[in-house]
Amino acid sequence: MNITISNLHFTYPNGVQALRGISLTIEPGEQVGIVGQNGAGKTTLVRHFNGLLQPTSGMVTIGDWDTRKYSVAKLASRVGYVFQNPDEQLFSRDVKTEVAFGPRNLGYSSEQIQSQVNEALAMTELSDKTETNPYDLSPTWRKMVAIASVIAMDTPIVIFDEPTTGQDAANIARIANVIKTLRERGRTVITITHDIDFCAENFERVIAMSQGRILLDGSANEVLGQEDILATTYVDPPQLTRLGKRLRFKKTVRTEEEFLAALRG
Ligand SMILES: Nc1ncnc2c1ncn2[C@@H]1O[C@H](COP(=O)(O)OP(=O)(O)OP(=O)(O)O)[C@@H](O)[C@H]1O
Ligand SMILES: [Mg+2]
Repeated sequence: MNITISNLHFTYPNGVQALRGISLTIEPGEQVGIVGQNGAGKTTLVRHFNGLLQPTSGMVTIGDWDTRKYSVAKLASRVGYVFQNPDEQLFSRDVKTEVAFGPRNLGYSSEQIQSQVNEALAMTELSDKTETNPYDLSPTWRKMVAIASVIAMDTPIVIFDEPTTGQDAANIARIANVIKTLRERGRTVITITHDIDFCAENFERVIAMSQGRILLDGSANEVLGQEDILATTYVDPPQLTRLGKRLRFKKTVRTEEEFLAALRG
């Protein structure tokens, strides 16, 4: 399912112009990382994908749906959105009720709900915590509950806003694994992140934003190789990429495998 954004502008009621003319297309099954300094407009942009925000001008379409003509509840069948802070998202008394809430709301049959919930719980390694109150879990596991509750809705598009912030290494690996599974299933995944290593390792396409505009958009190697331009939005390329540049590798590298290949070659 395509996401198409044409000349999107958005101004908050207090007059802040958060988006100043964004145009882009995201194809079905693409895995996109969005980076950029604080206040660049990343969250404002993705909140247009599920109708939480409506364009001040311009247009956002999800498949053949113009987001101005569909409610947030309707758009939830196409776009899943994992909030940065799970506490904005969780309200049920136990994990399985929480995770079942989304698919139940979308009106799936009870068998379908059961199978989507079980699958989401397995993907997030929560199968042994189904009876626990989410608030008795650590913040890292609460994050996984928030992810499971979105995955269980089985939407073609999934958005993560800063999924790795405040997470330990084990949970970052779990989140990367969820994204990998979604990729294998052909889902579109859009992830806002300040964690440039996470971005380099998990996304083939990277969009860098600055002051409500798109600064760079291309393959991860193309974008992460542009050190000078990224610096204007306070993003440092991954350490391996910078080291590769200093070693005068001909190609931009971003993973250990690429680095070693370039070193040998
Ligand atoms: N609810 C709001 N009301 C008014 N202004 C807002 C609101 N939310 C965000 N802004 C402003 O809009 C601009 C874009 O904010 P946004 O949260 O989209 O940036 P971001 O790239 O997600 O930043 P961060 O990396 O800090 O999460 C900023 O200037 C911000 O202060
Ligand atoms: Mg944000």
